[in-house]
Amino acid sequence: MEAFTSPREHPLYRPGNADFPVFQLPTPAYLLDEKSLEANLRLLRLVKDATGCRILLAQKAFACYPLYPLLARFLDGAASSGLFEARLAREEMGEDREVHVYAPAYGAREFESILDLADTIVFNSFEQWDRYREKVLEHNLNGGRQISAGLRINPGYSEVEVSLYDPAGPASRLGVSLDQLIGGLAAGRFEGLSGIHFHSLCQQDAGALSRTLDAVKKKLGGWPQGLEWLNFGGGHHITRPGYDIDLLINLIRQAREETGARIYLEPGEAVALDTGWLVSTVLDLVQPEKGTVAILDSSAACHMPDVLEMPYTPVCYLVPAPERSKLASRWYQGREPGVHPYTVSLAGPTCLAGDITGTYSFEIPPLPGDRIVFTDMAIYTMVKNNTFNGIGLPSIILNREDGQIETLRHFGYEDFKMRLG
Ligand SMILES: Cc1ncc(COP(=O)(O)O)c(C=O)c1O
Repeated sequence: MEAFTSPREHPLYRPGNADFPVFQLPTPAYLLDEKSLEANLRLLRLVKDATGCRILLAQKAFACYPLYPLLARFLDGAASSGLFEARLAREEMGEDREVHVYAPAYGAREFESILDLADTIVFNSFEQWDRYREKVLEHNLNGGRQISAGLRINPGYSEVEVSLYDPAGPASRLGVSLDQLIGGLAAGRFEGLSGIHFHSLCQQDAGALSRTLDAVKKKLGGWPQGLEWLNFGGGHHITRPGYDIDLLINLIRQAREETGARIYLEPGEAVALDTGWLVSTVLDLVQPEKGTVAILDSSAACHMPDVLEMPYTPVCYLVPAPERSKLASRWYQGREPGVHPYTVSLAGPTCLAGDITGTYSFEIPPLPGDRIVFTDMAIYTMVKNNTFNGIGLPSIILNREDGQIETLRHFGYEDFKMRLG
């Protein structure tokens, strides 16, 4: 179980911001911080400038499109998991940004629409490429936006410990094995394809990328000739403090020298890492036979499902309600049980017994009306949330660079109802 690391210093967490007006926010709410996002984007641009690589936003992690104009100033485009994400990128990132699409398989109708949106389409198997090759060639002959096609490979090497998040295991459906690639190259099945894509990292440093590249090159005896591009996928935790950016830069430069190809990265997490909170309110405190439970208006199951899937325990703060005036304007960080005198499980308002975000200890007991702020909640939250039990979706609120707080979207009953009939 990861967690309980201190949040890093960036604008949202700056001392002096401790009295950030959390009580003025409706809850639950995702609060995004524009300055923090821009700080991440500047770091990514540094990698681009040092290497000439191209960086795409993996929309599956973060697809808050009102911020796409900001992202488009720094990034080259977006990676999409299918038609809808491709359309979102094309509509909201601008015509001049690249739209890449990869899906484990394409349906015929979906593929027709993707042809009108994509710059790059990545196929998961030689069979899918065989099925759609003519469509791509025909599209390109008709002029207009030219589509570059590529193949996803499974590097067969991975250091991801959680199997749910390991795309490179021997039974993975994601990408052709290196043996299949070697066979396909020998049989001429790669003809017409311009690039190779792999994605096998998850929250990792550049060392894992280095070992992955070595493993692939060793097995293939070097990269295939004539590649126009190579996509190293996502999972590069570039904006995490301590990430080895110099090594990443060297690896990209080396790959460019070896292949002459354009190198793409498509991080999701690294783009919006540590750029948002989930702000919630304590509704009640209950005392089961064992322990103390605070019931919040935010739910792990509905609003931060990775907490249960990974699983992990997010960093959180207790902000006492203004009525508890003696405690005003101090934020109390939740620590491991037993560190502080008051140990409390923070739970959601759903029927799921395990809808518990974590068990923390605090210096003071949480009381109804207090706020609980979960940090690093911009990624894999808004894109994955749901309305199980009819629980409302958190509002999406932006702490703008100029200090203004802007509600991007508030959700209500209709957002629950419209998906059900
Ligand atoms: C194909 C592909 N690209 C990029 C990503 C983004 O990964 P991350 O958000 O870990 O950077 C993923 C995540 O699952 C992925 O499957």
